[in-house]
Amino acid sequence: VVPQGGNTGLSGGAVPDASGRELVLALDRMTTIRDIDPVGLTVTAEAGAILQTVRDAAATHGRDLPISLAPQGSVTIGGLVATNAGGLDVLRHGMTRDLTLGLEVVLPDGTVVDGLRALRKDNAGYDWKQLFIGSEGTLGVVTAAVLRLVPRPRHETTALLGVASVEDSLRLFARAQDAIGDALSGFELVGRSAMELVARHSGLEPPIRASAWYLLVQARSALPGLREAALALLENAFNDGIAIDGVVAESSDQATRLWALRERVTESEAAEGPSVKHDVSLPLRAFPAFLAEAEEALASASPGARSVVFGHLGDGNIHYNVLLGRGDEPRHAEILNRTIHDLVVRHGGSISAEHGLGQYRVAEWRRLASAAEVALCARIKSCLDPEFRLNPGKVLPQPERD
Ligand code: MLT
Ligand code: ZN
Repeated sequence: VVPQGGNTGLSGGAVPDASGRELVLALDRMTTIRDIDPVGLTVTAEAGAILQTVRDAAATHGRDLPISLAPQGSVTIGGLVATNAGGLDVLRHGMTRDLTLGLEVVLPDGTVVDGLRALRKDNAGYDWKQLFIGSEGTLGVVTAAVLRLVPRPRHETTALLGVASVEDSLRLFARAQDAIGDALSGFELVGRSAMELVARHSGLEPPIRASAWYLLVQARSALPGLREAALALLENAFNDGIAIDGVVAESSDQATRLWALRERVTESEAAEGPSVKHDVSLPLRAFPAFLAEAEEALASASPGARSVVFGHLGDGNIHYNVLLGRGDEPRHAEILNRTIHDLVVRHGGSISAEHGLGQYRVAEWRRLASAAEVALCARIKSCLDPEFRLNPGKVLPQPERD
């Protein structure tokens, strides 16, 4: 049984195999928003409710569910929880796990477990919901969730900056933390090659000088003064030679246009051709060495291949994707995959930051994780789903079928 939400995952976690022995469990008729509490700041929604619909419902109360993903008109609450989805709001509000207060799940033996408690403090028993968040439908089926809401911020500012190096990007991040504090809600990175793809396939150009790296910095708050703080950040960075160029959006329309430069990278990359995707996280200070070594390894593994680097630098998560060269074969993709993942592990990172292992990264995780960690996960699986009824072959390799 393969539970499926909006089918927008990037790791094949909700896709059945071709054996003819797997059933897709669609939850798209479970769409009820059971409750919104605008004072207690919670929403209780069923698994098939669409993220955009839940956000719109919260907005009528002046509240928001702070999860922002490009396909938010398709992604569902159940899918978000099951994959512990990230997105563009993680810096301020954390991953879906950090927003989840309660769950209702169906276990592989059919037991319905109701833990839909809208409580911030609840230490009664094991916090079992954590097992299901991010388990990609392998331990139980999430049928409803209580998620945290936040007040909709009244003020918002977005800036686009161009910098010459990743080191300067990190310097700017530290300065943005100091200048903007808790209101800092986004710190996204787009490499030059990714920005060129956006220009070629989406017809959008950054309104600043061409740079090796572009940074989108966003601040949100109930209090005013954000634009002034962003302008001061920009001016100081410019005077100290950290930023090459930059602009602070003058209107919400301009901010939307700046964000489109970031949000349209994935579709522009797809329009360019097939790519090998990596969804990695690293300690922030490891990024300069990792990126330099990755470019070196790429050049020797496949001279025609081009990296497309972008992502959530403030969260320590980037998408180091590689467009294959003309003469590259499938084995090049595999070699590249291994090379990049080896580097990630050497620098203390993770090969699956926000997209999940799904089916595409199962073998790599098995290759790179410690035996004790894999064995612990296998014990959890065998305890809840000893017959591998749920989403077989995802996250953990499936035992041989008869
Ligand atoms: C993004 O950050 O834009 C998404 O995770 C999509 C992607 O990796 O292509
Ligand atoms: Zn991402």
